[in-house]
Amino acid sequence: AVNRTPLIAGNWKMNLDHLQSIAFVQKLAWSLRDAKHDYSEVEVAVFPPFTDLRSVQTLVTADKLDLRYGGQDLSEHDSGAYTGEVSGAFLAALDCRYVIIGHSERRQYHGETDELIARKTVAALRHGLVPVVCVGETAEDLEKHGPSAVPVAQLGVVLAALEADADVVVAYEPVWAIGSGQAATPEQAQQVCGALRASIAEALGDEAAARTRILYGGSVKAANIAGFMKHKDVDGALVGGASLDVGEFASIARFPK
Ligand code: G3P
Repeated sequence: AVNRTPLIAGNWKMNLDHLQSIAFVQKLAWSLRDAKHDYSEVEVAVFPPFTDLRSVQTLVTADKLDLRYGGQDLSEHDSGAYTGEVSGAFLAALDCRYVIIGHSERRQYHGETDELIARKTVAALRHGLVPVVCVGETAEDLEKHGPSAVPVAQLGVVLAALEADADVVVAYEPVWAIGSGQAATPEQAQQVCGALRASIAEALGDEAAARTRILYGGSVKAANIAGFMKHKDVDGALVGGASLDVGEFASIARFPK
């Protein structure tokens, strides 16, 4: 992760209500403060459900926390007759820094296509949010096409919609490693993250490729984070299950350097 600030991000998925989110963020902030965590050295972000964001914002503002937060999805539209959707403008109004886009659970359960994900990425940028664009292959894809082809193709559709100076984060999350306890090996993660970086260089230029952070996600925990972080193209982690345990998540953020 040469010259790139690592990002440790917790995707809570559909867990923790607005009251639980306050208790969680408070404990996380205390734990990182006790450990003298330097947020400028390793950025830490949480992605709570939409209904928690106002509570998290209030706490982060009141306690002047350096913790970042964001939504788990957003609409491709800015406002209007789109029942159930949340716009980038609303997330920006809550001081969200980031927004996750194209998580494999959105692709799988909500039929999100690469094209929709590209439009959502552009919508996020329009509102000054940093999109965390998720890509990743299924076990079947892996067997059929090898490790990098599917994630690189998925990202390619998004890259085609971006300007060279776009500020995005990419998360490589192999579907077979999500929630399975079976993480990719650090070498597998490096191989795909390296291929994704090369595809960014090709589409947007070397400067964009050198600056863009690429995270690994899929069964990351305190015991395996260091192995991933040793690799040059892995700039952090998008953590699911293990981000719901304050102590575990704080230890991941404090991975041995
Ligand atoms: O977005 C993070 C996620 O999909 C990984 O989940 O539970 O395998 O860490 P988990």
